[in-house]
Amino acid sequence: MENNSYIDALALMGVGGAHPGGLQLTKNILSRENIDEEMSVLDAGCGTGQTAAYIAEQFQCHVTALDNSNIMLDKARRRFSDGDLPVKIRQGNIENLPFPDDSFETALSESVIAFTDIRQSISELNRILKPDGVLYAVEMVMEKKLPEYDMKPIIDFYGVTRLLSESEWRDLFQEVGFQQIISNSFKQQVENVDLNDGPDFSLSENMSDETMDILLEHDRLTKLYEDRLGFRIFRCSV
Ligand SMILES: C[S@@+](CC[C@H](N)C(=O)[O-])C[C@H]1O[C@@H](n2cnc3c(N)ncnc32)[C@H](O)[C@@H]1O
Repeated sequence: MENNSYIDALALMGVGGAHPGGLQLTKNILSRENIDEEMSVLDAGCGTGQTAAYIAEQFQCHVTALDNSNIMLDKARRRFSDGDLPVKIRQGNIENLPFPDDSFETALSESVIAFTDIRQSISELNRILKPDGVLYAVEMVMEKKLPEYDMKPIIDFYGVTRLLSESEWRDLFQEVGFQQIISNSFKQQVENVDLNDGPDFSLSENMSDETMDILLEHDRLTKLYEDRLGFRIFRCSV
């Protein structure tokens, strides 16, 4: 188990597509990229592997799915095996990626980096990308400055060290060596959402009421702060 109760609850519920925008956003992002069969793609913080499975099916390229949670990876392994998908699984820490420099053309990290040492993780993602590589990071952003008393419950609940504004994210991406950073917001097109793009679940046996309570608290905070706590899609190239 991790020592982050929000992430633990996601793992026990086995939520696939546990990032804002879900698989619909992922498809939207990747539709703009030319990913061919020769390319290597890393899903860093893959969770139960919904995105990695989609990439492997859609682009038939080399996909590696990394996470530090055994519970998540067991569920991802089952998904890949059920779909007969040749996705490589690695247990590892995004802050210290177990890959040589210049290993991947594309890396995705969907709602992961904010939970880690942000600078260290993006520096690692920069290191493992090839010189013409691209990182997509879908991350929580403080759209409007929050007072300290509003920030504290969010920071405590998600177990993050701080909340960054869009320009603070940009500065960090630049500091670690990304030269071009494009950030976009995304509005879910509710009327166009394909039911197949929703989150999926792979429940563990040892779930308690507390697990549900934690996910309900996430929903409550998301609604309460929807004008101030958003998310962005950062496209960073080297
Ligand atoms: C909010 S979930 C998102 C999962 C997945 N990207 C998705 O969209 O469904 C965050 C994921 O990051 C993983 N994670 C958190 N800290 C990590 C770290 N230091 N190294 C690798 N994975 C990490 C968690 O185990 C979890 O699977």
